[in-house]
Amino acid sequence: MEVENLCDTRDIHRRSYVIAGGTDGIGRGLALHLLGRGDRVVAIASGAEKGQRFLASATSIGAADRAHFVRADLSTLTGMRAAVVEVGAWTSTLDGLVFGAQRFQPTRVETGDGLEFTFALNYLSRYVLGHELAAQLERATVPVVLSLAGSGGLPGKIRWDDLQFVRDYRGRRAAMQASRCNDLLAVAYPARHPGTNVRYVLFNPGFVRTAMADPLPTAQRVLTKGLATVFARSVEETVPSLVELLDGPPAAPVSAWFRNRRVPLTGRDFDPPRAMRLDTVTAELLARARSS
Ligand SMILES: NC(=O)c1ccc[n+]([C@@H]2O[C@H](COP(=O)([O-])OP(=O)(O)OC[C@H]3O[C@@H](n4cnc5c(N)ncnc54)[C@H](OP(=O)(O)O)[C@@H]3O)[C@@H](O)[C@H]2O)c1
Repeated sequence: MEVENLCDTRDIHRRSYVIAGGTDGIGRGLALHLLGRGDRVVAIASGAEKGQRFLASATSIGAADRAHFVRADLSTLTGMRAAVVEVGAWTSTLDGLVFGAQRFQPTRVETGDGLEFTFALNYLSRYVLGHELAAQLERATVPVVLSLAGSGGLPGKIRWDDLQFVRDYRGRRAAMQASRCNDLLAVAYPARHPGTNVRYVLFNPGFVRTAMADPLPTAQRVLTKGLATVFARSVEETVPSLVELLDGPPAAPVSAWFRNRRVPLTGRDFDPPRAMRLDTVTAELLARARSS
């Protein structure tokens, strides 16, 4: 992988990271790797059991005092806000904020805020956490936001007139829309935080063997898991690329990757006017949701 501006390796330990979705799959693998080399990690997720398992694993590698679990449902505005507050209390400086929380929804689910679940969890929580933790990030020397999603020219459209998929919901389409929204979120980030030192990195890990397929209907789940045994990479094979990007992000404020290949920020997926349009629409939506 070509990365610029590699950090001094003497300076990479005892850093503070927040990993949304850090109790399972890729997020958990990354969290335990960082803890294993001496960093501090907060894992945010909604389930208590996986959270306890994460803390037990941290204890078993001697990192109990550097691991923290925040139980928050990031599909809800209350959960997003609670996570921001808890992270703010845990650290004043954040070296890395990793977005890996996801749960596939085969049918449309509306959250208590009246938002479609996939939009809320896969995209809106990244918007809220990324912007609201900007002060903590900017205190770090080379802060990185690492957003795991489907960046890299994969299909997926933004339904500007129906972002909440009120009509004709399809789980995969909603997930792909969220990926397109996350691409635009990254593009808008430096404009929202002029002069920021944050490096925003979009990373598509390709097919990785995780619990991602668990919520699928039976036939699809069996097929996906079967395909995963042949075609998917393991979490262990995926984590080193993420660590490399956290330790030595490209100098550019925004970059996108498909595995180890750099993806050019061209075309409609990364179009700055569309990014600012989505930013405005999202800010309005949040203002409405907060006032109701
Ligand atoms: N695996 C792949 O093939 C693949 C491919 C491309 C992109 N990605 C991206 O990589 C990232 C990680 O994927 P993965 O496959 O490792 O995921 P995973 O194994 O399914 O883990 C998802 C994590 O998100 C948490 N989570 C789920 N719902 C949540 C909620 N409402 N609030 C807070 N946390 C929640 C889960 O914990 P709880 O259930 O306890 O909340 C878990 O810690 C995702 O962003 C995904 O889109 C993965």
